[in-house]
Amino acid sequence: MTDTPFRLRDLLRTKRDGGVLGEADAHWFLKQVALGAVGEAEQVALLSSIFFHGMESGELEGWTRGMVASGDVLDLSGFEQPRVDKHSTGGVGDKVSLPLAPALAAAGCVVPMISGRGLGHTGGTLDKLEAIPGVRTDLDEGEIRRVLQAAGCVICAQTESIAPADRALYALRDRVELVESLPLISSSIVSKKVAEDIDALVLDVKVGTGSFLVEEAEARAVAQTMVNLAGAAGVHATARLTRMGQPLGLSIGHTLEIEESVAVLKGEGPADLVELVTLLGGDLLAAAGVAASEEAGRATISGVLRDGTALDRFERMIAAQGASDPQAPLEQAPDRTQWIASRDGYLDFRNLRDVGLAVAALGGGRKNAEDQIDHAVGIVSHRFRGDEVRCGDAIATIHHRAGAGLEECLRLLERGTSLAPDAPSPQPLVLERVLPRPTISP
Ligand code: URA
Repeated sequence: MTDTPFRLRDLLRTKRDGGVLGEADAHWFLKQVALGAVGEAEQVALLSSIFFHGMESGELEGWTRGMVASGDVLDLSGFEQPRVDKHSTGGVGDKVSLPLAPALAAAGCVVPMISGRGLGHTGGTLDKLEAIPGVRTDLDEGEIRRVLQAAGCVICAQTESIAPADRALYALRDRVELVESLPLISSSIVSKKVAEDIDALVLDVKVGTGSFLVEEAEARAVAQTMVNLAGAAGVHATARLTRMGQPLGLSIGHTLEIEESVAVLKGEGPADLVELVTLLGGDLLAAAGVAASEEAGRATISGVLRDGTALDRFERMIAAQGASDPQAPLEQAPDRTQWIASRDGYLDFRNLRDVGLAVAALGGGRKNAEDQIDHAVGIVSHRFRGDEVRCGDAIATIHHRAGAGLEECLRLLERGTSLAPDAPSPQPLVLERVLPRPTISP
């Protein structure tokens, strides 16, 4: 490949000067990244140019196709059911995937859900699932198919061969602070979903202080770009902008969130979490043609959560992923401390990121990708946003190990919340729906 350095230099120069990357060049570059044949300096140079100049819509579509083509697409040809998935941009207490994937499987879909790990203030679905003893999430393609045959759903990590260029570039972006870029985020997420070979996708794009997208306009642009990108790649996608200014549900922390998810799978659980699982499930069942309308889809999801069939799928899934006893109680943190209100007021969240970091301070989060996490620690709130609290009431119970990180956890909780003299105005969980439409230039 004697022309390699020239081709590479040409495309680096094109993007550096604000030009448009041709699809053939994007495919070539991404293949070289997947093969480990491009140096990190050159990768960072191109990523920085994309970060600062953005991408035109056709250019972004070509780049995303290149990410998919850098590896393999899952072969799910043996499954006759519609194939669907959901992706969330992540937030504090966001455990929707855990009850939703088995509920969709119980409703007649196949759900090959490739998920991520937590970093910073948010927890990751894979880390939560690994709070169950024995469960493995690093599955190969054959194992993914076997779990799907057993349960109709799987929740696992990106394999070696799914969008390998994204795997390399996302890890590098994380190291050099190049994550927050609309074209880079949307192509990264959508390429993995397209490589799952799904028919329909619903995106839960979080907005608020517990999300990495704090502003509504920014979240709307990310949602619209991803919906359009997925559509251009042949996957029917819609999105919901949902609020992340208060935790979803009452529990934050890996084991505690599995327990809350199982409550939802038993037809119980907090109303906001049940609402979102049902809503996103209804969107997908209608998009996949399993339900005649979204309303009918929501009724189906409510039914499978209440009649135990979704719980059965969940237990089959975790057993197929290695859990020796799917119903065994999970290991709990040995110590509990109440977080006590220091005055009267109405609970509100000033900065939800601090609440997520409060769990990380106990050992339940990572600062770096390689950090180990303590699954058992976390926080169970006794109040929702807007609830009245009296001085001396327990607002939440903190689950910890011998006080490790407790002081910092309490400091972050005090900083991230307030006890306001007046009740904060109620905020609907769902802000708006985003449907496919002509692209706005990033
Ligand atoms: N999640 C991803 O998979 N990729 C990004 O770039 C950001 C979030």
